[in-house]
Amino acid sequence: MNNRAVVIGVGHYLPDRIVPNSHFESFLDTTDAWIKSRSGIERRHFAADGQGTSDLAARAAKAALENAGLDANDLDAIVLATSTADLTFPSAATMVQNEIGMTRGFAFDVQAVCAGFVYALSNANALIVSGQAKRVMVIGAETFSRIMDWTDRGTCVLFGDGAGALILEAQENTGETTDRGILSVDLNSDGRYRDILYVDGGVATQNTGFLRMQGKEVFRHAVEKLAATAETALEKAGLTSEDVDWIVPHQANLRIIKATATKMGLPMEKVIVTVQDHGNTSAASIPLALSVGVAKNQIKPGDLIVTEAIGGGLAWGSVALRW
Ligand code: UT7
Repeated sequence: MNNRAVVIGVGHYLPDRIVPNSHFESFLDTTDAWIKSRSGIERRHFAADGQGTSDLAARAAKAALENAGLDANDLDAIVLATSTADLTFPSAATMVQNEIGMTRGFAFDVQAVCAGFVYALSNANALIVSGQAKRVMVIGAETFSRIMDWTDRGTCVLFGDGAGALILEAQENTGETTDRGILSVDLNSDGRYRDILYVDGGVATQNTGFLRMQGKEVFRHAVEKLAATAETALEKAGLTSEDVDWIVPHQANLRIIKATATKMGLPMEKVIVTVQDHGNTSAASIPLALSVGVAKNQIKPGDLIVTEAIGGGLAWGSVALRW
């Protein structure tokens, strides 16, 4: 018998303020039509003044606990993926731990930008498989609206705020791919590409800075690397794309999502798409899409899901799991 990390709860939170593409037409040389046709984005949510990433994360965490029928102290750990933690330290994860009333275990952040949730899942899986934790809350949460340069039409129209959370539990099973849980992980990074997607501030500059992106270059890497990492994750699990029920991609650009599905030989009917409603929420996009997919009755227990993401670093990766 093997211990596998099985999803037992899911939830999400989106801030109340919904911002349509037309909002940007009033102060930028842009149009709803351009944003929609180049990215697939129609609207996004922005956090309220004073509402930090940890606040969004805690609300998603509470929703996941309710979905699982658990109390915060039933958790052993929180792994939170974010690049927009409220403060330099402490971690957003420990703030969430406090906010949800969890007074035991441990909590930490993972920073792998848009690939953050895949990295966090990998960390949580390792904690469970190694026996260090039995139940782990995995959260992706971001407030990218706080690092936008509102004069840069090439970036500020693309991103949004939100949070999603999963609860993983150690469950014994036979080790077959038909059993539930995380089946395989593929992680990659290449620091040579730091300059095509980064934030120009931080501890070194003593200010928070703004997101800078060479969109076309990132697009090229995304199309090349996402299908490859997803196929590697499937291969590691002993599966192929024919076994996939749902691709749950990082939601950056509908054109990237479609190109990746095409490369994998999968129809768009097998892809969860939320980019039109959320924009690019970086590390929050995959758990948001999973939670929305479950709420819409698309994702069902036993489905084979492949997540894939790429972002600043560059960092990219994929997780294959049986829901
Ligand atoms: O989540 C992390 C990973 N990030 C991504 O995966 C994002 C990857 N990149 C992309 O999604 C796309 O590259 C973008 C959506 C950012 C841009 O789409 P694109 O088709 O690559 O457009 P482009 O950057 O080549 O720009 C085309 C034109 C340019 O004008 P010229 O040089 O052709 O005259 C831009 O200046 O569109 C212009 N442009 C805009 N026009 C209206 C750029 N932003 C805008 C805008 N509105 N907001």
